Amino acid sequence: MPFAHITGWGMSVPEAVLTNDDLAKIVDTNDAWIRERTGIRERRIARENQFPSTLGAEAALKALEVANVQPTDVDLIICATSSPEHIFPATACLIQDLIGADKAGAFDLSAACSGFIYALNMAAQSIRSGSIKTALVIGTETLSRFVNWKDRNTCILFGDGAGAFVLQASEQPGGVFSAVMRSDGSGGDLLSIPAGGSRHPATEAAIHAGSHYIHMDGREVFRFATRVMASSTKEALDVAGWTVDQIQHIVPHQANIRIIEAAARGLKLPMDKFVVNLERYGNTSTASIPIATVEAATSGRIKPGDKLVMVGFGGGLTWGALTAEWTGPLPSERKVKPQKGSTLRRARSFLRRILRFIDGLLSPREL
Ligand code: ACO
Repeated sequence: MPFAHITGWGMSVPEAVLTNDDLAKIVDTNDAWIRERTGIRERRIARENQFPSTLGAEAALKALEVANVQPTDVDLIICATSSPEHIFPATACLIQDLIGADKAGAFDLSAACSGFIYALNMAAQSIRSGSIKTALVIGTETLSRFVNWKDRNTCILFGDGAGAFVLQASEQPGGVFSAVMRSDGSGGDLLSIPAGGSRHPATEAAIHAGSHYIHMDGREVFRFATRVMASSTKEALDVAGWTVDQIQHIVPHQANIRIIEAAARGLKLPMDKFVVNLERYGNTSTASIPIATVEAATSGRIKPGDKLVMVGFGGGLTWGALTAEWTGPLPSERKVKPQKGSTLRRARSFLRRILRFIDGLLSPREL
């Protein structure tokens, strides 16, 4: 049975920074409260022309370059997102087109902030089964578009960004070892975007009521999160047959520093085992675990051979944890050129639309 190795990683965040002081100018809050209660100092906010697909494609191309893999070698793209661009088409398909992954299947996975762990596990299982060889897993968000900028309970928390991993099959032991995925739909109302789906379509009344924004019971989500972070880490470690002492790094979902500190206490681990960057990005939902991992790998903190756990929680309710041994790029004869040429990719996508149009004109109409 092949192993599923993490061989490439990349991230992309918008340039625009929104600080706590900036937020204090629009809602009744202040820097000291936000830092003390959440640990967040600033977050990135997408420009009008930045979307989950564009941020996700940038992160994906960087990940492919690290892995030394061409977009056309990718078999499967799973995009975890809590702020999909549409109900359909899937954001994964938009990314597939932007990067020119012509042979890949592509779909979105909706498990809120646990989405990246779920997606990584699904991609790893597809590789382990032998049905595919190369997968791209992306977590990408512009949650700022679903935030009510008048609600101080939520607008201080979220930020935009994307992170991506390349997974590849290899007979060498390593890569993803175990995962646990859990859910409890009875808590769905604790964290939701009530309108915009088929139950409460985006009517004028729904928008007037603000039901298209993120709604959250912060205290209950906090209580749930502190309960599941340590327990799911332990479960994933048990499945892998690893002890907590064997782990070099824990990459938690970056929601609130107090939740991460509670997990550290629950696992009896020092905080320096936890990769934390939430002070600079806030909660980027599905992108938070890959962004934190990418920064740690790029700085050399996470090294080949290191054992790590990724653990998260989110709306649904969902939660989960995954163990992996860090690999890095697989040895390869050929060197893939840096992933540039977006003009070429755009031209090819445009050409396809034109060809589809001409084909439609020439095809005989059926009654
Ligand atoms: N600035 C100043 N004061 C505030 C703010 C603010 N931004 N927000 C709330 N307060 C006030 C409240 O009104 C309250 O005042 P009161 O005592 O007079 O009523 C007081 O501060 C304490 O409010 P709490 O809600 O008890 O504050 P808490 O310490 O629980 O922190 C927070 C709130 C940060 C939201 C916390 O509950 C939390 O992090 N929860 C988890 C949220 C989370 O992780 N969500 C994302 C999940 S992932 C996903 O799927 C998207």
